[in-house]
Amino acid sequence: MDEKPAADWVRRWDVQQERYVADREERFTVLIDVVEHVCRDVAEPLVLDLGCGPGSLATRLARRLPHARVVGVDNDPFLLALARATRPEHADIEYVQADLAEDGRLTGQVIDAAVSTTALHWLRPDRLAVVYRELAVALRPGGALVNGDHLYDEQPAIRDLAKAVKDRRAARAGVEANEDWKSWWAGSRPIPRCGRSSPRPSWAAARPATATGSARRSTPGCCGTRASRRWRRCGSPATTTSWRRCASRLGCGP
Ligand SMILES: C[S@@+](CC[C@H](N)C(=O)[O-])C[C@H]1O[C@@H](n2cnc3c(N)ncnc32)[C@H](O)[C@@H]1O
Repeated sequence: MDEKPAADWVRRWDVQQERYVADREERFTVLIDVVEHVCRDVAEPLVLDLGCGPGSLATRLARRLPHARVVGVDNDPFLLALARATRPEHADIEYVQADLAEDGRLTGQVIDAAVSTTALHWLRPDRLAVVYRELAVALRPGGALVNGDHLYDEQPAIRDLAKAVKDRRAARAGVEANEDWKSWWAGSRPIPRCGRSSPRPSWAAARPATATGSARRSTPGCCGTRASRRWRRCGSPATTTSWRRCASRLGCGP
């Protein structure tokens, strides 16, 4: 794919994602602050971006930490094609197609940090636990998982409150009328799909049929408390929320 149309699609992707995460850029910035701190003594840190999509975070990581090697992992070939076409010159970014829902995807290398944004909630809780276990083995001592996602509260009333505050925030930021993800995917349909015949994103097709927006919200994988409990059970000695806007949180743990 040519760089110019790909860059236009990535810009359009970013606008679309901001509809759901009004403070997405700030979340990226704080996430990179955490990575920078965790990797401060490493000459060439290896950072994995799980569910990297078209490379929005990987690109920002590489710009701020040019000495880092960034590996973006995603199972969607079209998003990866956009990421590869827009990789900044001289940036040490590799994009790999792999399904995080399959075992053994993250083993084999010592990594300094694993990051993810708005992606891990797509994995079923049992698969997420496998990813956490693999990361616990792969991360070097002192490394960290830094996950920015919709991490909801277990209490329904608090979840509703978070949703109301999020909607107000989106209205104030002027992003609530941004293009939505359905329209983004529909718009990109005519673009040749690197050999993939399905016009639907592979990850949306893989989504369990019962997972409507609200059902997904209540799955254990999306609950902040349970997510950090699970990460601790899989080997992390400590977890914290280093940034939060309603349900949009940056959970991290060494
Ligand atoms: C909402 S997008 C977020 C993309 C990117 N992190 C961002 O913030 O722009 C969710 C991403 O997770 C990826 N994803 C979902 N399930 C996956 C899986 N099982 N294996 C690999 N990637 C997956 C999707 O392809 C998609 O790129």
